Amino acid sequence: LKFLCLSNDGIDEHMVWLIGLKNIFARQLPNMPKEYIVRLVMDSQKFGEIAFCAITADEQVKGYGTRLMNHLKQYARDIDGLTHFLTYADNNAVGYFIKQGFTKEIYLEKDRWQGYIKDYDGGILMECKIDPKLPYTD
Ligand code: ACO
Repeated sequence: LKFLCLSNDGIDEHMVWLIGLKNIFARQLPNMPKEYIVRLVMDSQKFGEIAFCAITADEQVKGYGTRLMNHLKQYARDIDGLTHFLTYADNNAVGYFIKQGFTKEIYLEKDRWQGYIKDYDGGILMECKIDPKLPYTD
């Protein structure tokens, strides 16, 4: 048994596997709209969604949240080839995200992200552009 992490990176063999995976999702998750499955499995939009972000209560405001985000930026850029993060930030976490370089203005073109992340009422959509060269970790 072998597990592989795959993305739509232009390699023919990977494309064939992704189509197979897309077909499994479509069959096994019949309530999911087919176009949504295709979009999420096949498209590489080059942004990452930060769905959850938290530090355990007695370790907050000690710099760990910043280090975690820096690590994530470095990994996302160097391993996954991502250019941006998007997040629906809770109102009380907006200050933290601003300090991590996120903005409330979304500069990414809408067709790159709309429909790829679930719309969510309880937060503020924020964007962070990952610097292509900056060393985020030492
Ligand atoms: N509001 C405003 N500023 C904040 C907040 C906040 N809630 N939290 C941290 N900051 C500031 C700090 O004061 C610090 O500023 P400085 O660089 O000027 O000193 C900077 O942000 C970095 O702080 P860290 O110590 O690195 O942050 P921390 O380790 O506390 O992690 C986090 C931040 C993840 C928000 C943490 O406080 C937490 O888990 N909070 C509760 C859960 C939460 O709100 N998570 C985000 C929900 S949104 C989502 O998940 C997509």
